Amino acid sequence: MLLPLLILPWAWGALAASPPVPPGSLTLRLLQTIIFHNTSSTDMAGTALLGDLETHSLDCRPCKVRFLQPWAQQGLTPKEWQDLEELIYRYLSDFIRLMKELVEEEGEGYPFVTQFSIGCELHPNGTSRRFCDAGMNGEDFVSFDTDSGKWVTQRGDKLTLKALESLNYNRVVAVMLQFLLRTTCVNQLKSFVQHGNESLARQEKPVAVVFARVPPPAGTPAPVLLVCRVTGFYPRPVRVAWLQDGEEVAPGGRLNSSGILPNADLTYQLRSSLAVEPGAGHSYACRVQHSSLGGQSLLIPWEQSRPWGPGLAVGITLGVLAVAAVAAVLRWSRRRGYQDVRHRESSL
Ligand SMILES: *[C@@H]1O[C@H](CO)[C@@H](O)[C@H](O)[C@H]1NC(C)=O
Ligand SMILES: *[C@@H]1O[C@H](CO)[C@@H](O)[C@H](O)[C@H]1NC(C)=O
Ligand SMILES: *[C@@H]1O[C@H](CO)[C@@H](O)[C@H](O)[C@H]1NC(C)=O
Ligand SMILES: *[C@@H]1O[C@H](CO)[C@@H](O)[C@H](O)[C@H]1NC(C)=O
Repeated sequence: MLLPLLILPWAWGALAASPPVPPGSLTLRLLQTIIFHNTSSTDMAGTALLGDLETHSLDCRPCKVRFLQPWAQQGLTPKEWQDLEELIYRYLSDFIRLMKELVEEEGEGYPFVTQFSIGCELHPNGTSRRFCDAGMNGEDFVSFDTDSGKWVTQRGDKLTLKALESLNYNRVVAVMLQFLLRTTCVNQLKSFVQHGNESLARQEKPVAVVFARVPPPAGTPAPVLLVCRVTGFYPRPVRVAWLQDGEEVAPGGRLNSSGILPNADLTYQLRSSLAVEPGAGHSYACRVQHSSLGGQSLLIPWEQSRPWGPGLAVGITLGVLAVAAVAAVLRWSRRRGYQDVRHRESSL
């Protein structure tokens, strides 16, 4: 049934010239979630991502690909996109039918959720890796091994083994999937790298503020926690360090980090905190290094003019107010107000 699709001319076409790949590996992946509510009702949602950039969404009743980037239609003709939609639709319909049969046979209950992560990764050295993994209720379920063309699993339960048997029984689909992952996915990835180069090169500068967390009740000799909040940066890689008297604080128990977290506007944020002893007389600054800063770093000193002690709470309140004001100003003039770091560093 799927065999005719194998001889589609586009499927065999290779990209004429291999466009340059930016440094670092780049991934094109399709994430597909299917919610099985009961025997008669399922919900599906699909999305394609180039790195962390959402490029397509897939609505499957029947399947319709939506292009979320101006260049997302590149690489295939409208007819080829339509063939792909039909192929995915047929494949998902078969999968849903199979899962319903198995769940009913094995007496397993609704609702349940399956998720697919399918795609390819292109390395700077020109090699690529393919992946096709399915999960069920948040746990590994089955994976497709592109080299052998076989579905495999780590699980031993009856439902999974039966699913594996059915999936491996259909050789035509396996060959098609192997081809889609090895050739179509890699060609599309190269095409997007070429046509989406401007989106991939997007740079958003970080905005950072330093403030002290409200300290524990008076009388407790606990350290004060300084927090450096860095937000609004893109791409994801960032380096945030604390300087004590101009020296980088070594990793260890005094430091803590939230890790890099996403914002809603496809920028990222991170919080890094440093525990400091009140009254030790050191100066502190948070240093941010990011590709958008053109080789410079952003340096935000902890402005603490008052001595530590009884006045601390007042100082901190004032500090928090000042930081809030600075944050408001920074947000307002986000693209302009970056300090000249070389100048700042010399004055530390
Ligand atoms: C199946 O689930 C859907 C969505 O939750 C619900 O609207 C529908 O009534 C359910 N049908 C049956 C037969 O339980
Ligand atoms: C190419 O790069 C990837 C990822 O960095 C690495 O895993 C792979 O071994 C490399 N292959 C060759 C042939 O150098
Ligand atoms: C993207 O590619 C076009 C054409 O290949 C080129 O003119 C442009 O400078 C590139 N832009 C970036 C940001 O690399
Ligand atoms: C780091 O911060 C997290 C919350 O942001 C907290 O749960 C965790 O205990 C902290 N770790 C240390 C070592 O302070």
